Amino acid sequence: MKKTIADIPIRGKRVLIRVDFNVPIKGGVIADDTRISAALPTIQYASRNGAKVILCSHLGRPIKEEKKAVEKGIPFDRAKFSLGPIAARLSELLDMEVTFVPGSPGNGVRSVVEGMANGEVCLLENLRYEAGEEANDIELSKSLASLCDVYVNDAFGAAHRAHASTVGITNFVPDAVSGFLMERELKFLGQLLSAPEKPYVAILGGAKVSDKVPIIVALIDQKVDRILVGGAMAYTFLKANGYTVGKSLVEDEMLDQALEIERKAREAGVEIVLPTDHQVVDSYDPLNSRKTIPIDFTNAGLVGLDIGLETVELFKSKLKGAKTILWNGPMGMFEEKPFDIGTIEIAKAVAEATKEGAVSVVGGGDSVAAVNQTGMQSEISHISTGGGAALEFLSGKRLPGVDALQDK
Ligand code: 3PG
Repeated sequence: MKKTIADIPIRGKRVLIRVDFNVPIKGGVIADDTRISAALPTIQYASRNGAKVILCSHLGRPIKEEKKAVEKGIPFDRAKFSLGPIAARLSELLDMEVTFVPGSPGNGVRSVVEGMANGEVCLLENLRYEAGEEANDIELSKSLASLCDVYVNDAFGAAHRAHASTVGITNFVPDAVSGFLMERELKFLGQLLSAPEKPYVAILGGAKVSDKVPIIVALIDQKVDRILVGGAMAYTFLKANGYTVGKSLVEDEMLDQALEIERKAREAGVEIVLPTDHQVVDSYDPLNSRKTIPIDFTNAGLVGLDIGLETVELFKSKLKGAKTILWNGPMGMFEEKPFDIGTIEIAKAVAEATKEGAVSVVGGGDSVAAVNQTGMQSEISHISTGGGAALEFLSGKRLPGVDALQDK
């Protein structure tokens, strides 16, 4: 177990909290503030207990994006990656002023931090404006460490990255502990790894099998009872099994691997359940041709964009009696109505199963967005803020940002 912010004295101390405020921003507007809200308990605790609260985060990948733009000779808007709009939203959510601090940790930030009163909160500018962040640079790590007396990592979503603000800094501070969000993530996801109550059902979706191979293999090794596969990744499995999938998204280079996964699953007694029907459009007339058909009826011109209602019922029946549920990835092209129906119906089914006693964990941006859209967030046991971090953790990999924190 990792030490948490509640285990150490913080009154009057400068407490630097690494949060993951890497949230989608469209046209300057925050499209989903789940990650900001999820960090509030730690921030509020620190502020109410008299700490000087210094928040820091990354947002996007500005240096990499700038390099790409320069290579292509297109303009690059650095300001798009500023955490300024996030400070404003955070102020609203906390109902208190949050000082936004432009400038780099080594230059310009110190005077603001030194002038803070107990309980005040400030947010530093995007750490990834600094080349040293992703390089886990010693100088940047020391600069960040020198701003604080206590380091708290609440950025579960970035815990799979060994960067200056997630790992390097821990070598130069007396106390490196977890925040409450990190603690909660490790509790729920850890429970899935160590002692999941059976039957354990995983629901996997999203575009690519290739992204999910490590987690599928880990789930099979863990002998989950069944894996329900939806989203475009189902088409790779279906095609590997000889179905015509038309122009649906398929990873042809993964067909053999899909069969290998199925073989492994059979040997381990893990059932893999694929869709039996889907919503399709005619690739030549996409606007007017939407229909739901059995998978077997798919012809060469059709594109599958969502699971059908028969599949929803099939998946629901496979969730009956589940005691543990993990869901990662949408069931269809969720961002485009009406191809969000399958994902929303599965969100309802997971909420229903939770009411009947299952522990449910939802992870990954789109499935989280789907649950949020149905307004059933509170009916799910745990909604993870980690995308890649959650997948790596559940695949049995160690997270450097967690390993760097002190044990109890
Ligand atoms: C995420 O969104 O998964 C985390 O914030 C990590 O972001 P990264 O993949 O850019 O490191």
